[in-house]
Amino acid sequence: MTTVRAMTLADVDGSAALMAEQPLWQRYQISQAKAARYLADLLARGEQGLVASGEEGIQGLAVHSWQTFGDFGYLRILAAWPGQGWGGRLLAEVEGACADKGVPALFLLCSDFNIRAQDFYRHHGYAQVGRLAQWIRPDIDELIFTKRIEKGRASDGGL
Ligand SMILES: CC(C)(COP(=O)(O)OP(=O)(O)OC[C@H]1O[C@@H](n2cnc3c(N)ncnc32)[C@H](O)[C@@H]1OP(=O)(O)O)[C@@H](O)C(=O)NCCC(=O)NCCS
Repeated sequence: MTTVRAMTLADVDGSAALMAEQPLWQRYQISQAKAARYLADLLARGEQGLVASGEEGIQGLAVHSWQTFGDFGYLRILAAWPGQGWGGRLLAEVEGACADKGVPALFLLCSDFNIRAQDFYRHHGYAQVGRLAQWIRPDIDELIFTKRIEKGRASDGGL
């Protein structure tokens, strides 16, 4: 059975493989090896990692931290095989972790061409509040999305 749990170093290779197969990270030329180094570094820095994992391996992952624009949450990475429900489930877990910690809003960046993800975030109550032009790559703008998090809302999952 696939469940959501904290990411460990043992999950890094499977998580990196999932990322490297998504057109999103291919556009940023993120190979599996590069993604694995990045994820290991984020965990070493103390960022919070989650995976949806079961017999069929890693089905999704999320990485977030707490200190963006002051003490707001930042969802750095969200990846799942599309349409299986794990993206929404992981997003709810991150929001629940923010609520449990009293973090009042969650920010994230979404590529200007990633219309599916923009629609997904709007569906989940996020609004675009800014644009970083040509921020990571000269041919891509990064859209800033945010959502206010209700205080004290309990996490949906059993972490
Ligand atoms: C974007 C992504 C995280 C969405 O995750 P997902 O697992 O495909 O989405 P889910 O199946 O969990 O969908 C959850 C809910 O969002 C809705 N949804 C999903 N995609 C949607 C879309 N494009 N537009 C509107 N609603 C959408 C679903 O209908 C579902 O609604 P419900 O909970 O009310 O039934 C995933 O497709 C992905 O990882 N894509 C590649 C990497 C990427 O773009 N990451 C985001 C980087 S900013």
